Amino acid sequence: MPAVGGFDKGTGKAYPGNLTPYVTVTCVVAAMGGLIFGYDIGISGGVTSMAPFLQKFFPSVYRKEALDKSTNQYCKFDSETLTLFTSSLYLAALLSSLVASTVTRKFGRKLSMLFGGLLFCAGAIINGAAKAVWMLIVGRILLGFGIGFANQSVPLYLSEMAPYKYRGALNIGFQLSITIGILVANILNYFFAKIKGGWGWRLSLGGAVVPALIITVGSLVLPDTPNSMIERGQHEGAKTKLRRIRGVDDVEEEFNDLVVASEASKLVEHPWRNLLQRKYRPHLTMAILIPFFQQLTGINVIMFYAPVLFKTIGFADDASLMSAVITGGVNVLATIVSIYGVDKWGRRFLFLEGGTQMLICQVIVATCIGVKFGVDGEPGALPKWYAIVVVLFICVYVSGFAWSWGPLGWLVPSEIFPLEIRSAAQSVNVSVNMFFTFIIAQIFLNMLCHMKFGLFLFFAFFVVVMSFFIYFFLPETKGIPIEEMAEVWKSHWFWSRYVNDGSYSGVELVKENYPVKNV
Ligand code: BGC
Repeated sequence: MPAVGGFDKGTGKAYPGNLTPYVTVTCVVAAMGGLIFGYDIGISGGVTSMAPFLQKFFPSVYRKEALDKSTNQYCKFDSETLTLFTSSLYLAALLSSLVASTVTRKFGRKLSMLFGGLLFCAGAIINGAAKAVWMLIVGRILLGFGIGFANQSVPLYLSEMAPYKYRGALNIGFQLSITIGILVANILNYFFAKIKGGWGWRLSLGGAVVPALIITVGSLVLPDTPNSMIERGQHEGAKTKLRRIRGVDDVEEEFNDLVVASEASKLVEHPWRNLLQRKYRPHLTMAILIPFFQQLTGINVIMFYAPVLFKTIGFADDASLMSAVITGGVNVLATIVSIYGVDKWGRRFLFLEGGTQMLICQVIVATCIGVKFGVDGEPGALPKWYAIVVVLFICVYVSGFAWSWGPLGWLVPSEIFPLEIRSAAQSVNVSVNMFFTFIIAQIFLNMLCHMKFGLFLFFAFFVVVMSFFIYFFLPETKGIPIEEMAEVWKSHWFWSRYVNDGSYSGVELVKENYPVKNV
């Protein structure tokens, strides 16, 4: 029986190519598309805890919070109106990623990025200038549309551009930008909240135009991926581009494989229906389960609600915003570890190590909070060291996520889909991610109120399930050229029953019917 990891022989293909300055700069610019997503994740939690913002737009929430004299810490911040503000964006992102699939496939990855930047820009301006709740909502929806386009196209762009040996590292630039976006937003909230006159929230929300302009301008100067150019019939240009990107003249083999992959994708008339074919079962499973599991690690409980959570365990206002900045910093640093290790140690190792680390921390945090707060949420006097220990373990948990499920949740799906279903499958990935981000954002405060410290054990349970899933079902994809990925499924103990030499992948079908001539 083949190894559980599935694939350890290499495909035999080794396209020549270097990590050229050209490809590095290109990928760094493109990865900045993650900033808009990160900025938004980091900004909303802080803004919704600013009193002037609540007073202006959600007065009933403000009154409830101000009047609430209950001492039950678990239920203090439970308000659905407020969470709807945070989470509505993710529904818009879900819808737009489906539209983005067609734009990305027919008009190229760049155009989707451009749309993403422009929509996000419009949303940021409307939000910063908001005078009424409807403006906030329209702004949020535009931001969501922007994120849907960017998250659909940027990971694909990076995975197609990168030389396969460095694909992991370059792709994780996207996640690094997400974490930088979150951190910058946390820091800005910290300072803007202090502005006298109570209009700091306008700067927080309007500040989103900066990352939006970065991706808008970036998308105008970036080159198209060779895959995307070939897909649109520009063969000569694509070959020249490939030589430039790889920094070598001998790109024949890779180029031919890209042409073949593109021919295969043209045979596909219904990319969505196609996804349901038996031979794409592993891809569809990963496109659904990876983002589902990523959100069920519980990471966004920390990212959205860190200030609220830290208040719950007894920190003062300022200290809790500061702790959010600390977890944000840990998130960035740990992502860099992943950039360093992903193409050396592989994806499976990071997934399994990160999972174990998160599990241990979740159990410790649940125990700490449970022992002190009990089930009635009455902590009594909470010693300072106690809160520090909790924050410390939350940081270790965040770092575990930041070098495993965080980056790999975007990298692995973007590198396993064959070209003929790539765009559609990536949309499934983004939509599932957004859907569960929405659910978690929407029900977390309510869950905290009802499940109490057991909430952390709920997520811990899922971390166990997802780690088993990775161990048994995810083959290693490190160092495999993206258009050669079919091999990893064919030699996997489980997936080989769906993908085998009998079940032709689109690429092989074309190789047989249309032997490629040198172009
Ligand atoms: C996830 C986000 C999360 C972020 C934290 C991303 O990969 O998709 O939901 O907030 O990582 O860094």
